[in-house]
Amino acid sequence: MGMSPYKMLDNQFQDLVADQTRLVVEIGSERGEGSTAYFRDWAQARGVDFHTVDVTDEARSHFANNVDYGGIGDIHFHTVDTGHAWCRDVLPTLNKQIAVLYLDNFDWIDPVNLQYQWLHDQIAAYAVRGVVMSNENSQEEHRLQTLYCLPHMAHQSIILIDDTYYDVTSPTGWGGKCGTAIPLMLAAGYAIANTDQGVVCYRGIDFKYL
Ligand SMILES: C[S@@+](CC[C@H](N)C(=O)[O-])C[C@H]1O[C@@H](n2cnc3c(N)ncnc32)[C@H](O)[C@@H]1O
Repeated sequence: MGMSPYKMLDNQFQDLVADQTRLVVEIGSERGEGSTAYFRDWAQARGVDFHTVDVTDEARSHFANNVDYGGIGDIHFHTVDTGHAWCRDVLPTLNKQIAVLYLDNFDWIDPVNLQYQWLHDQIAAYAVRGVVMSNENSQEEHRLQTLYCLPHMAHQSIILIDDTYYDVTSPTGWGGKCGTAIPLMLAAGYAIANTDQGVVCYRGIDFKYL
């Protein structure tokens, strides 16, 4: 079950430089859980550009049609074929460095959920887009996003990731969505903290989880 690691931004990372030279990027827009609204408010308060990327336009419609949700505000929505292609092709044209990256997209199959119809419906919805919803494909998508984002990360920056956990059976020591992306982050100098709010990778800034 997903967590909300982005909520650490407000109470753990007050020293993070966030201004007009920086970006907040979310790959995997919210489905009613609140991440996109949280980043909109956090970025708006600091004058930082916020981009949210997804393969569907459900979040954009949701924000546009529900005034109670606070509106679209300054959110830059991107509806794409894949998040990694956006990171490869569009991100470099923005000419800004990412201060906060949130990776929580291509859904993960927890085998305990195979008993539920909603998961089979989700797998079928991916198939309609011509995509095999498998955990290998989820990891590869998150790995490629990381690969293409890393050159655009500010030195002082954080990467928040969801549905990722220690896994002694994995060659990387990590399982879940970012199981194969974490070695890239480590090689780029990020430290990784596995907290009860989710995983946070940080570089150029202190982090003492309270
Ligand atoms: C778990 S939800 C995101 C939840 C949200 N980040 C939150 O915390 O509330 C996963 C999202 O990833 C999107 N997605 C699936 N495959 C993707 C891909 N290849 N690139 C970008 N987004 C993708 C889905 O459409 C879905 O909206």
